[in-house]
Amino acid sequence: MTIKKVGVVGCGLMGGGIAQTCAQSGYEVVVREVNQELLDKGLARIYNAWDMMATKGKLTKGQVDENRSRLHGTLNLEDYADCDLVIEAVIENMEEKLRLFPALDRIVKPEALLLTNTSSLNVTQMGAVTKRPQKVCGLHFFNPAPVMKLVEVVQTISSSEDTIEVVKQFAISLGKTPVLAKDTAGFIVNFLLIPYLIAAIRLLENGQASRDDIDNAMKLGCGYPMGPFTLLDYVGLDTTLWAAEAIYEEYKDPLYAPPPLLRRMVQSGMYGKKSGRGFYDYQ
Ligand code: 3HC
Repeated sequence: MTIKKVGVVGCGLMGGGIAQTCAQSGYEVVVREVNQELLDKGLARIYNAWDMMATKGKLTKGQVDENRSRLHGTLNLEDYADCDLVIEAVIENMEEKLRLFPALDRIVKPEALLLTNTSSLNVTQMGAVTKRPQKVCGLHFFNPAPVMKLVEVVQTISSSEDTIEVVKQFAISLGKTPVLAKDTAGFIVNFLLIPYLIAAIRLLENGQASRDDIDNAMKLGCGYPMGPFTLLDYVGLDTTLWAAEAIYEEYKDPLYAPPPLLRRMVQSGMYGKKSGRGFYDYQ
C-alpha cells in the first residue's frame, strides 16, 4: 500500500506537530480542527516553526512554500475521504475517540488505515467500533513531534501484520525510529515515564526537596534534557493526569495513582506551558 495523502485529526500541540512532520516529509496533509479559531492558531504555529527553520538555514524559502502548499486545513471530517491514512490526535478522552472512529470509518475510503496518537488509551476499543479493526493501530508521537525521533507503533489483537508493516515504514519515511508495543496502557514510554513524573511530584508534595533542586538533580545528575517539572509543564499536566489515570485504571498499581497536587493543579487550569502556568510561571 502506498501512502500519499495523510489526514490528521486535531491541530493542537500534538496534531499540529504531526501534521508539520508529515507535510515536511513530502506528504499531502489534511488537518482538521473543530472551529476556525483553533485551526488558525494551529496552522500559525506550524508556519512559525517552518519560518524558524528557514531562519536557521534548515529549510529554503522554496521548501517552506512547498510545505505550506501540501498542508490543507479544514473544519470538515468529509475532507478525509480520499486519505490513505488518518492519524487521530484529539483530546485524550475515550468517549470522544469512540465517537470519532465510527465517523472516520464511514467517511474514509475502505482501504485506508486509521491510527491513533493516544498516549495510553485502549486502541483495541477504538478499532472495535469500526468495521476495519485490522486496519487500526496506534502511532504514538512524542512532544515536540517534529523533533523527537521515536514513535511507538501499537499493535492491538486485531491489527494485521500488514497494517503494522505499512505503519512502521511510514514512520521511517518521517525520519522516525519505530518501536513496537502491544496495546496495554502506557505502551513502553509512558509505562516507564509516568511513575518517574509522579515520584517527582510526591517528593515535592512531601517537602523532601524543592522544585528547582529536583529539576537540577535530574538534569545534571542524569543528563536528562529537562528536569521532571519542566517536562511536566512541557507535556501538559492535564495530559499527564489522563495518562496516569488510564494506566492506573488498567493495573490498579499505586505507582500510577495521580498525586493530589497534580489533580488540584489540573482542576485549577494549571496545565503547564500551554496555559501559561504549571509548576513554573510562563506569563
Ligand atoms: N519544529 C522544528 N524544529 C523544532 C521545533 C518544531 N516544532 N521545536 C524545536 N525545534 C528544534 C529547534 O529549532 C532546535 O533546533 P537546532 O538545535 O537546530 O537549533 C532543536 O529543536 C532544539 O530546540 P531548542 O534549541 O529550542 O531547545 P533545546 O535544545 O532545549 O531542546 C527539546 C528542546 C528538544 C524539547 C529538549 O529539551 C528535549 O528533548 N526535551 C525532552 C522532551 C521529551 O522528553 N519529550 C517526550 C515527552 S513524553 C511525551 O511526549 C509522551 C506523551 O504521551 C506524554
